[in-house]
Amino acid sequence: MSTAKLIFEGKEHEFPVFEGTEDEKAIDISSLRAKTGAITYDPGYGNTGSCKSTITFIDGEKGILRYRGYPIEELAVGSKFPEVAYLLIYDHLPNMNELLEWRKQLTRHSFMHESMMNFFDHYPPTAHPMAILSAMVASLYAFYPNSETDEELDTNIIRVLAQAKTIAAFSYKISRGEPIMYPQSNLSYAANFLRMMFGSPAEEYEVSDVLERALNQLLILHADHEQNCSTSTVRMVGSSQANLYASISAGISGLWGPLHGGANQEVIEMLEMIVADGGNYKKYIELAKKKDSGFRLMGFGHRVYKNFDPRARIIKKACDEVLAELGIKDPLLDIAKSIEEVALQDDFFISRKLYPNVDFYSGIIYKAMGIPTNMFTVMFAIGRLPGWIAQWLEMRRDPDNRIHRPRQVYMGEKVRKFTPVDKR
Ligand code: COA
Repeated sequence: MSTAKLIFEGKEHEFPVFEGTEDEKAIDISSLRAKTGAITYDPGYGNTGSCKSTITFIDGEKGILRYRGYPIEELAVGSKFPEVAYLLIYDHLPNMNELLEWRKQLTRHSFMHESMMNFFDHYPPTAHPMAILSAMVASLYAFYPNSETDEELDTNIIRVLAQAKTIAAFSYKISRGEPIMYPQSNLSYAANFLRMMFGSPAEEYEVSDVLERALNQLLILHADHEQNCSTSTVRMVGSSQANLYASISAGISGLWGPLHGGANQEVIEMLEMIVADGGNYKKYIELAKKKDSGFRLMGFGHRVYKNFDPRARIIKKACDEVLAELGIKDPLLDIAKSIEEVALQDDFFISRKLYPNVDFYSGIIYKAMGIPTNMFTVMFAIGRLPGWIAQWLEMRRDPDNRIHRPRQVYMGEKVRKFTPVDKR
């Protein structure tokens, strides 16, 4: 094993270096504070490996994304979302029997506890569906407060995967004052979701192959992305031994922000704003280049991908297919393509390695499907569930796991003399 040497305050210290399967090098500084009294400073954790993981591999420079060793490009065209979920969680692709059983369980557990329906009576119709999803997923523990033996965990995992889409679809139906649609056992995961969202008891809902395929792809592309903000949140919360539902609910909240899962909604809102402003997208590209404007091109840039986002390539193609097959001409897509074309030739974006990310096109597909803008992040959350679950399980089973507890460098006041407020 090689080592790294650090000279600090005149003294030399050695730290072990280890390599990941894909030759990534890591300096193990877990003994740094004990040896030197110092800590590292790494805001945003850009250089910090918080765990060893066998789930997802990303090479941001080369634009590689693999789940359990399988390239995303192959999974996106050759499998369906439940298979990928199984792969991420159980570390192998299911055989036919495992898949049939997995699908059966996913349908069986997609019915919510009927008492949970009372929740919907008390949210305002305008409630953001992410608020509903996060609260209701945490509340699953109130309805299923079992312990977490391996067997019970399997049921909890299926329950959260299966019910999140039911919660999402019901919240949509209720916000529109429409009757809810219960899941149907003869339909696939994606088809069930589409029917629960857009079906009506008045007539048979025919699930479009194009939409089902696109939805499967979108969910697969979002299924895991190693130690991003929401996943690290799931691990952080789970490290205190909080239950699966509570940890996933925290991940949903982490995903909500515009710099993470909220970006696809922001992209559509940005494109709509540009269209409403006469379509002068160049003005907005210029604005994004001015730091003090506070405006960023939403859907551009990524902390990890620095040449291209492999998910964006797949999604761009899917976007063209969905719009062509549904016969939709969307001015937002024209603006999006123009922005991409111009930005990719602009020095500001080239020098900072800013490329369209997965969210740049996913919102346009969701819009074409009829999914309302405020549900885009919910779609991302449904897709990300298997990743969160797999990462949570890995963390809980890792013998090296300790409660997560970063340190800080205190820059505030030194001790001050306290004088009570004179209340006379
Ligand atoms: N538009 C304009 N400029 C951008 C930009 C964008 N979307 N994203 C990054 N930049 C610029 C920053 O101003 C900074 O410029 P500087 O070097 O002159 O200071 C540089 O690029 C690096 O940005 P930084 O914020 O440090 O990168 P990061 O790795 O911390 O952030 C994101 C990554 C994704 C948060 C960031 O690119 C972003 O805000 N993108 C838009 C939101 C988005 O699409 N999020 C979805 C991610 S999947």
